[in-house]
Amino acid sequence: MKLINKARISATGFALVAFVAVSGSFLETAPAHAKAPPQPAVLNASAIAVADQFSAEAAEQIFKEGGNAVDAAVAIAFTLAVTYPEAGNIGGGGFMTLYMDGKPYFLDYRERAPLAATKNMYLDDQGNVIKGMSLFGYRAVGVPGTVDGMWEAHRRFGKLKWKQVLAPSIEYARDGFFVSNQLEQRRREFEEQEFVGKTNFETYFSNLKAGLTFRQPDLAAVLTRIANDGAKDFYDGKTADLIAAAMRGHGLITKRDLQEYKAIWRQPIEAKWNGYEVITAPPPSSGGIGLVQLLKIKADLAPDFNYITLNSPQYVHLVAEIEKRVFADRAQYLGDPDFYKVPVAQLTDDAYLAKRAAEVNPAGPSDTKSVQPGLGTSMPEKAETTHFSVIDKWGNAVSNTYTINGYFGSGVVVEGTGILLNDEMDDFSAKPGVANVFGVVGSDANAIEPKKRPLSSMSPTILTKDGKVSLVIGTPGGSRIFTSIFQVITNVYDFKMPLPDAVAAMRFHHQLLPPNTIFWEPYKPIEGRLAEQIEAKGYVLKGQDFNGDIQVIKVNGNTPEPVADPRGRGVTRVIP
Ligand code: DON
Repeated sequence: MKLINKARISATGFALVAFVAVSGSFLETAPAHAKAPPQPAVLNASAIAVADQFSAEAAEQIFKEGGNAVDAAVAIAFTLAVTYPEAGNIGGGGFMTLYMDGKPYFLDYRERAPLAATKNMYLDDQGNVIKGMSLFGYRAVGVPGTVDGMWEAHRRFGKLKWKQVLAPSIEYARDGFFVSNQLEQRRREFEEQEFVGKTNFETYFSNLKAGLTFRQPDLAAVLTRIANDGAKDFYDGKTADLIAAAMRGHGLITKRDLQEYKAIWRQPIEAKWNGYEVITAPPPSSGGIGLVQLLKIKADLAPDFNYITLNSPQYVHLVAEIEKRVFADRAQYLGDPDFYKVPVAQLTDDAYLAKRAAEVNPAGPSDTKSVQPGLGTSMPEKAETTHFSVIDKWGNAVSNTYTINGYFGSGVVVEGTGILLNDEMDDFSAKPGVANVFGVVGSDANAIEPKKRPLSSMSPTILTKDGKVSLVIGTPGGSRIFTSIFQVITNVYDFKMPLPDAVAAMRFHHQLLPPNTIFWEPYKPIEGRLAEQIEAKGYVLKGQDFNGDIQVIKVNGNTPEPVADPRGRGVTRVIP
C-alpha cells in the first residue's frame, strides 16, 4: 500500500462516563462550562490552522457566535468528516490535547479492537501475515471513537449548544461542497489499490470529482441524529444498529462493542524543554514520548549541533542517530497503557536521555543491530489522518489529530449512513517484528487484544511558557508525525526561523528500520550534491510519496500567527 493512501507523567488515565444522561437540556441549551464566569480576552483574536477551507468557514462561524476553542474544534472535526473524507471522520478516532483556563488536558478517543479480536487474527495457518487484511475491508476496522471524543470534549468544555456546533457539518453534507483537485486525485490513487474493489467504497465516493458539488444525504441524516440525540445515536441508537448490521457476516464489531466504547481523559505528557512546557500525547500514542526524547537528546548534544547548518549532511546524520534510539524504544516498550505498563517516566527521564545522547556517534551511522531498546530487556514483554490547531482569544487552545489511518481508511462505508470506516487495526503489531504500513515494528506491548487501543504516533502538542500558550502544533504522517513536529519546533526555536519558513523547510525521516535509510518527501526531495554527501556518510536515501501537513499556531505577544503547511490544502484564519 502506498503511504500516501495511506516528565511527570502518570500513564494511567481515568475514565469518565461517556454517556451522561442525554437530557434535552444539554442538547438544546449550552453545556455547563458556558455558565463559568466570563474570562477577559488575553489575545487580540482567535485563530485556526485547519486542513481545508470548509472547516475554516465552520470555525469562523462558531467563533462569531461566541464559541470557544473547543466549540470550534468540534465543529471543525464534524465538518472535516464531510468535506475531507480521506482523513476527517466519524468512523475513526484520535487524540485531543487541550489547554483550558490555564490547565493542560488530554482526551484519548482512539479506536479499540473489537471484543472478538484475537492476537493472530491477521495470520494464516503458517503464521504469516495475510496481505491487506488489516488494511482493507470489514476486518480492518477498530471500534470508532471520534463521536464520543467530540461529545466528551464539548460536554466538559464547550460554551455553545451541541446542536449549534454540529450545524455547519450538516449543511455541508446536505447541500454539498466543491471537490478540490487534491481530493479527486487522492480518491483515484486509493481506488487503484488492490483490495479496494472488494469494498463498497466506489458506490459512495465515485462522484468525488474536482469542480463538482458532492452531496452526502445519508451522512447528513446521521449527523442530524447525532445533533438531536447526542453520541448515544452512534453508540446505542439507530446509527449503532446500522453499523452492527453492516458488520454482521463480514466483520467483528457488534452493537455491544459500540455500547462499551468510552473516550478517556488521560494525564498528558508534560516535559520542560528550552524554557517551555511541552504538553503532548501520552500512550497509547508513541508520539509524545518520541517527541520529548528527540527534543531532549538534541538539547543534550548541543555542542555537536553547534555551528551545524539546518539540513546539512551532518545535521541529517545527527538527527538520524537520535531517531535510531527513539524508534528502538518505541518498538519495544510502547502500547496501550490500559493493557501494558508503559515505562513512561523512565523513557522521558533526563538522566536516561543523557545516557542515550552519549551513545550517538557523531562520526558515522551506528550499526543498526547495536542500537537496542535503552531500558534493557528486563522490561516485561507482556503486561491518513488530519490535524487542526485552534486558539481562542481567551488563551484556550486545542491541538487535535484524528484519523481513519490510511487515506479513506478501510474503504468500507456503512450502508445507509455514508460513514467511511477506519483501518486502524493495522497499527497493531500483527506479528512481532513484522512491519505495518508505516514500516514500523512492535512487540507484545502492541499485540492485538480485545478492547485494546492500537499504538499510535499521533502527537497533538501545545507549548506553553509562564502559563500562556506559545505554540499549537500537529500533523498527519504515521510514524513521520513526531519526527516532523520535532523538525518544525527545532526550526522555530533552535534556528529562530519565521514560522512559514520553519513549516516549509525540507523534512526527512529515519526510523531504525530499514537500516540506515533516510526517507525524503516529494515536496522538497533530497537530491543532487546533498544526496551524494548523505550517501557518502553510509546512508541509503529513499523517496516516499507522502508529505506531512503541519497545522500550527504561534503566539507572538498577544497576536496569534497561524500557518498551514504548503504541502496540503490547509487554510488559516485570524478571527478578531
Ligand atoms: O495513529 C497513527 O499513528 C496512524 N494511524 C496515523 C495515520 C496517518 O497519519 C496517516 N497519514 N498519512
